[in-house]
Amino acid sequence: MKILVTGGTGYIGSHTVVELQNQGFEVVIVDNLSNSSEEIVGQIEKITGIRPILEVFDLVNREKTADFFKRNSDIKGVIHFAASKAVGESVVKPLEYYRNNLVSLMNILESMKENQIPYIVFSSSCTVYGQPDELPVSEKAPIKKAESPYGNTKQISEEILQDTIKTSEIKTIALRYFNPIGAHESALIGELPLGVPNNLVPFITQTAIGIRKELKVFGGDYPTIDGTPIRDYIHVVDLAKAHVVAVRRMIEDKMKNGFEVFNLGTGKGYSVLEVINAFEKISGEKLRYKIVDRREGDVIEVWADPTFSNEELGWKAEKGIEEMVASAWKWEQAYRKNELLK
Ligand code: UD1
Repeated sequence: MKILVTGGTGYIGSHTVVELQNQGFEVVIVDNLSNSSEEIVGQIEKITGIRPILEVFDLVNREKTADFFKRNSDIKGVIHFAASKAVGESVVKPLEYYRNNLVSLMNILESMKENQIPYIVFSSSCTVYGQPDELPVSEKAPIKKAESPYGNTKQISEEILQDTIKTSEIKTIALRYFNPIGAHESALIGELPLGVPNNLVPFITQTAIGIRKELKVFGGDYPTIDGTPIRDYIHVVDLAKAHVVAVRRMIEDKMKNGFEVFNLGTGKGYSVLEVINAFEKISGEKLRYKIVDRREGDVIEVWADPTFSNEELGWKAEKGIEEMVASAWKWEQAYRKNELLK
């Protein structure tokens, strides 16, 4: 059974391709390699023994997208990861974010309609909840006004999908990710941020390995246990597995309606300092960090109520925080060693 994975050489995409192939799915990747590298398909092959097909083009291009789907009309479903995701950058380049994230989605949906491809799993984000009024946050929580153009593209994308399913055969599962971290246990794939990382865990591992001087902890005066913000960190492999469950749910006709939403989190929140402590414990490294001013747009605390996902999907995040940061650290070390060998 053939599945299209857009953004399949990216961080979450590559881990999902591995899980799909491990479970017998045939995968074709479309990626413009704007934030990833072609070498990832070789790494996926090392893990699974199968080299996924990769087509390099931009899904913002309507003609190329239509041509691809025409040639691959036997695709059973789509998992759509390909998108820009840097919150700060989206504030500076809003139009690029709207074009890249929304036009690509519309092109895919039009081609799916033209070729009678019925299923799409969409990468959404807990950012749609903003700072929730109640914690843990369930799928029933209201959508808050987006803090950034990036967050807005996720909200608008969900709306585009909701409107599309009303007038077509297309069915959607939107997965709202909390904070994905960690890497595959093989350390052959992991997160590879371009330039200075925006996200916490790559910044921690790059600091520990000596690429960054010190980690800035954004704010120590939040009303939380230790003054730093709280997030629901989830292992990227747990997240990847949820996508395979979602694809199966669609194919096996188990959806309750044409547009379903699931939270992908562990249900447990950790503060920034707790993540740092977990890292120091598993690595034996002392991390250089200092507490600085708050970062604009950061919510104080958010963690998932994963009950609906657990019960309805029969999926549960299994890996704990130490395993998450240990795998991220193993990946950082393996990756830098390979870089030096090149
Ligand atoms: C952000 C986005 C989310 C997006 C995700 C992945 C928001 C509200 N959320 O999550 O939608 O899907 O990135 O790109 O914009 N931190 C530091 N120092 C650092 C980096 C981070 O202290 O150098 C802290 C942050 O203040 C935050 C926590 O670490 O409290 C996690 O930050 P980060 O990894 O950037 O993820 P989010 O901001 O939660």
